[in-house]
Amino acid sequence: MASPAITGLTDPHLYSHGDPHAVWTRLRRERPVSWHDEPDHEPFWAVTTYDEGLAVLSDWKRFSSAGGTFLRPNLSDPYPGAGVMMTLSDPPRHDVLRKAAAALFTPKAAAGFRARATEVSQSLLRGVVDAGPHDFVNDVAARYPLQVIAGLLGVEGEDVERVAGFAEAAVDNIADLDGMVSHQAHLEVLAYYAELIEERRTRPTNDVVSAFVLAQADGLDITDDEIILTCDNLAVAAGETTRQVLSGGLLALLDNPAQLAALRSGTVPLRSAVDELVRWTTPVNHLMRTAVADTPLGDVEIRAGQAVSVWLSSLNRDETVFDRPTELRLDRNPNPHVSFGGGRHFCIGAPLARLMTGVFLEETMRGVARIELVGEPRRKPSYVTNSLEFLPFSFHSE
Ligand code: HEM
Repeated sequence: MASPAITGLTDPHLYSHGDPHAVWTRLRRERPVSWHDEPDHEPFWAVTTYDEGLAVLSDWKRFSSAGGTFLRPNLSDPYPGAGVMMTLSDPPRHDVLRKAAAALFTPKAAAGFRARATEVSQSLLRGVVDAGPHDFVNDVAARYPLQVIAGLLGVEGEDVERVAGFAEAAVDNIADLDGMVSHQAHLEVLAYYAELIEERRTRPTNDVVSAFVLAQADGLDITDDEIILTCDNLAVAAGETTRQVLSGGLLALLDNPAQLAALRSGTVPLRSAVDELVRWTTPVNHLMRTAVADTPLGDVEIRAGQAVSVWLSSLNRDETVFDRPTELRLDRNPNPHVSFGGGRHFCIGAPLARLMTGVFLEETMRGVARIELVGEPRRKPSYVTNSLEFLPFSFHSE
């Protein structure tokens, strides 16, 4: 008997209450590159296997980022920032923007944030240890990344919370289907940076805004709009993703007490534990590209202009690449996960994300003896981000 049609990748309910992994597993097995024509959504291709997915992400000549990098209901409408923002541009434009910022994101530069990450972790933990039930997502994980790297993003003092709030609303474009809330939030982030550019022109510091302004003064062809949009993207990219590794990672450790014990006792290397939690949580569910010309992919023929989505969450569970992919194994090695993407747009913040996650885990293992889940976690109804919106817990020092 033929199996029923697989639909519903854009159905928010699948992510909040359903089992998307069951859908992806079946797609990997039956139709690695599949066409989806779903209600209230323009049609698109979905790539769920590792090799085909990486082939798309690695080939910007065939699959462009300039039409947007996430699915959205009205794919044919123009997308703000398309072809301008770092993440929404292809080479050579993309290379220019990425080069201007690269020095601030090297592993060595990331290591410079260790002390700040330790300080912020300790301060956030102090607020919740032996302090009764809290929501880990909003009281801890959401605050952490932006507080650590606020200076890098040019955000200081009381603006940190403000920009964090905009950044959160800006990416919540799924619950907010017509995009009005996220659009308004983007405008707020843009307005913030427009002001900052003027200030950094006269007084540059060691942040991304200054890096772009200085590059501009050196003759690099970057407009103020491009700088602003790229900074907006950074604030969103850094804040939403790292928090998901922390909250989804904490839940995964609670579900796997033997792995938590191994982490506590130091019998698994921190570096591999971090990467396994990044694989396990896969904060970015999918990435989108637009086919530049008619082109074959797997056993299908993609037409020029069609949207091609690559489901990172599915690639990270591909049985042909990962040994026992449905098990959390903190000592997994090798671990060629694609949570940071692949190809030219590979996450520029990966060293920082790894550092922040590692430091937070270390401080939690040091300062928290017992972690207790005190209610039902809630997942976000989002096909873009793979995230928890509520994780009730109590942390105990003994
Ligand atoms: C665990 C945390 C993180 C995850 C899972 C993650 C994931 C990703 C992914 C999948 C991409 C590829 C986008 C594409 O190909 O279209 C990406 C790109 C990017 N990420 Fe991250 N990210 C994380 C943390 C960060 C942090 C901390 C920062 C900044 C401080 C950051 C900044 C960026 C930027 C600017 C890009 C665009 C790079 C480009 O277009 O060349 N990310 N990230």
